[in-house]
Amino acid sequence: MNSTVQQRQDRLEPMLRLAPVIAIVTIDDVNHAMPLAKSLLEGGVRAIEVTLRTSAALASIEAIRGGVPDASVGAGTVLTPADVTASENAGALFFVSPGSSPLLIDAMGKSDVPWLPGAASASEAMALFERGYRLQKFFPAEPAGGVDFLRSLAAPLPKIKFCPTGGIRAQTMAIYLELPNVICVGGSWLSPANVMRDKDWKAITALARAATAGSQR
Ligand code: 3PG
Repeated sequence: MNSTVQQRQDRLEPMLRLAPVIAIVTIDDVNHAMPLAKSLLEGGVRAIEVTLRTSAALASIEAIRGGVPDASVGAGTVLTPADVTASENAGALFFVSPGSSPLLIDAMGKSDVPWLPGAASASEAMALFERGYRLQKFFPAEPAGGVDFLRSLAAPLPKIKFCPTGGIRAQTMAIYLELPNVICVGGSWLSPANVMRDKDWKAITALARAATAGSQR
């Protein structure tokens, strides 16, 4: 029998708390997947969300899962039931979506992999909470109201914890992590496209190290 939403959310929580920074990576070349994951790990970032935005994404998840066992690799930009099946088959340990939809919620109900669904308003967060999702991605964090918006949700919705992503950088992550309803932050600033193109893995480790040092509370 499938696990319950609550059981899957309970399994998700320690993965979100790992750094507490999730690297959101977009990989164009599957050969970059393992060195990228290793360099993030060396900098202390263990949770890696591979966005399903390139043709190399699924193979990259598979490569990291098989080759870098200390990383917690998940699939991001999961939008459809087909994405759920494909990323589960690739070995994703968690799913992340920018929002939620009835079809996606149904598909997630049939999967055993934990899901971090996105919300950008009190109503969206409440609708997901009704379905058992106490852990949610707040997206797009900065354009949707940033730190002030999230702080305002903490009192009326104390049971919902967020992973804000979208516009967060090394300089701003600590302010988010101070909030009582923030469990981790995520962002693509740890793997800039030009640094990936140059295969400058040392630079990625340095960015990850700076982020994990900056996240110490
Ligand atoms: C995401 O893909 O979840 C966010 O767009 C990441 O946002 P960033 O690129 O501003 O970090």
